[in-house]
Amino acid sequence: MSTHGQAIDYRPHRLKILWRSTIGKKYVAAVTGVLLAGFVIAHMLGNLKALEGPGNGHASIDRYAHFLRTIGSPALPHDFFLWTERIVLFTALVLHVTTVTQLYRRNRAAQAKDHRPKRIRSTISARTMPLSGLLILVFVIFHVLQFTTMTIHPTPLAKGAVYANAYGAFQKWWIVLIYVAAVVVLGFHMNHALWSGAQTSGVDNPDRNWFWRRLATGVTAITVIGFALVPTLFWTGALPKPVTTVAAHDGARSTQ
Ligand code: HEM
Repeated sequence: MSTHGQAIDYRPHRLKILWRSTIGKKYVAAVTGVLLAGFVIAHMLGNLKALEGPGNGHASIDRYAHFLRTIGSPALPHDFFLWTERIVLFTALVLHVTTVTQLYRRNRAAQAKDHRPKRIRSTISARTMPLSGLLILVFVIFHVLQFTTMTIHPTPLAKGAVYANAYGAFQKWWIVLIYVAAVVVLGFHMNHALWSGAQTSGVDNPDRNWFWRRLATGVTAITVIGFALVPTLFWTGALPKPVTTVAAHDGARSTQ
């Protein structure tokens, strides 16, 4: 009772109850996972613009990167879409990592309490989810420091010269190896994530599970191959040299 005789409701807000519940966390993990997977697939498709080559100094992938920065222009400020996307993705990433870690811990604690031996069939993708997630996180930090902020530049880089930047970077075998390995790890993570997302959303059913499993594997395989193509084709020389070198662009960062 309050001093005015009114009853005070101390029950937590509905959203708080949902956030604390296992099912609520599963939904947050699934929705944020879908957002992250959507970005990954869109990024892979965007990268395929590199296959159109260097053009006449205006590579298709450079024009695409410019387009992303000027969506809504002149009504919206420069980079508006990009910053909105970065904020949404970053929030999704934080919520995803938080909920999956909490769910993993809850699961471990429940298994420790329940001493019955477990006979759960599980795939390598499922067993290595925490490790693959961590490796992807480390890769994304390295990747953004390389191509977005250009803080790490083992090869020369310049703003806006996406084709030339990628061409230069993927002449080095060890950079190709890091990228191809990272997308293979991403594949393991994504395969299990898409399948368990189907289970959380309730579309799974013993009669149709073969379909959801194959769909998850198919989407994952296309994503991994699509990503791996770009560094591999640059490295093998199948994609031609850029018309304008990185050094000729304004604000180029050298290797030193
Ligand atoms: C072979 C694989 C990949 C290549 C060649 C590649 C290439 C690039 C390039 C060139 C940029 C900078 C684009 C620009 O300046 O406009 C970029 C940005 C980015 N990439 Fe990738 N990427 C690859 C894989 C990935 C993967 C697997 C992820 C995530 C799991 C990822 C996440 C990002 C992020 C978060 C950015 C920053 C976007 C922003 O500026 O807001 N990339 N990537």
